[in-house]
Amino acid sequence: MTDLTPVLSATWDAKESWTLDTYTDHGGYGALKKALGMAPGDLIQAVKDSGLRGRGGAGFPTGMKWGFLPPDDGGPRYLVVNADESEPGTCKDIPFMLSAPHNLIEGVAITSFAIGCNHAFIYLRGEVTHVYRRLLQAVREAYEAGHLGKDIHGSGFDLDVTVHAGAGAYICGEETALLDSLEGRRGQPRLKPPFPAVAGLYARPTVVNNVESVSSVPAIIERGVEWFTAMGTERSKGMGLFSLSGHVERPGQYEAPLGITLRELLDMAGGMRGGKKLKFWTPGGSSTPIFTDEHLDTPLDYESVGAAGSMLGTRALQIFDETTCVVRAVTRWTEFYKHESCGKCTPCREGTYWLTQILKRLEAGRGTGADIQQLLDTCDSILGRSFCALGDGATSSISSAIKYFREEFDAHVEGGCPFDHAASALFAYEPKAIEEAHA
Ligand SMILES: Cc1cc2nc3c(=O)[nH]c(=O)nc-3n(C[C@H](O)[C@H](O)[C@H](O)COP(=O)(O)O)c2cc1C
Ligand code: SF4
Repeated sequence: MTDLTPVLSATWDAKESWTLDTYTDHGGYGALKKALGMAPGDLIQAVKDSGLRGRGGAGFPTGMKWGFLPPDDGGPRYLVVNADESEPGTCKDIPFMLSAPHNLIEGVAITSFAIGCNHAFIYLRGEVTHVYRRLLQAVREAYEAGHLGKDIHGSGFDLDVTVHAGAGAYICGEETALLDSLEGRRGQPRLKPPFPAVAGLYARPTVVNNVESVSSVPAIIERGVEWFTAMGTERSKGMGLFSLSGHVERPGQYEAPLGITLRELLDMAGGMRGGKKLKFWTPGGSSTPIFTDEHLDTPLDYESVGAAGSMLGTRALQIFDETTCVVRAVTRWTEFYKHESCGKCTPCREGTYWLTQILKRLEAGRGTGADIQQLLDTCDSILGRSFCALGDGATSSISSAIKYFREEFDAHVEGGCPFDHAASALFAYEPKAIEEAHA
């Protein structure tokens, strides 16, 4: 049995966990003082040695990303923290920032020192105004305590931090769209190369990292590489936040070593809601192919989840029981992707529109047998042919759902939806046309 390993979530239950006093009472900003006494190159090496991989979805090694920055040319270089968190099911960074904003700020300060950045940005999802206020307050406290600003703790290192709230677009979580948005333009992905490490914010060398990646750095510096590498699996080191949502008795954040299984997490979470049977789940948010009860013992690390046909993504485990119509769930996700497609490239812009049309008529019992093949063909026209990963992600749930639940799609063609949607309270949103079709 794997145990929980609260590190990022260690202080969440403490009284007023978001305040500077509580954070420092628990040893906060100790890692920053230690880091300021180290050589920046040694900090980068420590993060490389820790094996920390980006927690924003793709799992790219964090220390290696920092190492891609070109040598200092005397001009500015930037750290941009990706706090846009907008994918259905993904819900770890927002509670983290609400509960422990100073952990993020400490990570920002250490990362900035390591990469030679004097101005860092936190790009926050626009809708979460409560988190925005909390971050602004925490940044203010950190300046007053000398953890940010000029000559931090007498080290000669200067750092300013700007918290920027976006306007609420999923595509602005894609790192280059985020940079365009931060520069004041419409958020659309940029052509790569050049990668942000070479020409990022204001065409200067930039590191873009997820909130959880940056926030894992203080503990690595404070407790050491060996402590971190003792957790996790051979190529997926350390701990991470696993977000359980949906049909589970005790949904929430479970911080555990990478490699834990859903079976273990479900045990900790009190099992399936009402003792029902697990039907399907996402290992890493709505852009990752779904799994079924066959995968309960798949270790939740990058390699094992990949080998089983999905992606670890953001460890957003959305759990669906036997009362859920998979066609309906997939339709809701696809409507999201259609809505959030930025329109820059044809496969995604047009494809997500047509996928939604087909899924809606299947869901309403008005589809034909040819529609299922059409869904697969349209997914094929999008996957690998879109400008950014949003298009690919839009196809994941559809093709995996048809792979595991083909007979349920067929049943929608033959006799309409066989499910009682009132039994599954997950999807409150009902487009009017579907309501009418079901009536
Ligand atoms: C459509 C789309 C949305 C994304 N949203 C986020 C997000 O909200 N937060 C995030 O950290 N990464 C997001 N990513 C991944 C980022 O592009 C990037 O890989 C990540 O911020 C890198 O940080 P990391 O290396 O620390 O994981 C998104 C990617 C795509 C294609
Ligand atoms: S894949 Fe979709 S979101 Fe990405 S650039 Fe193309 S239209 Fe925009």
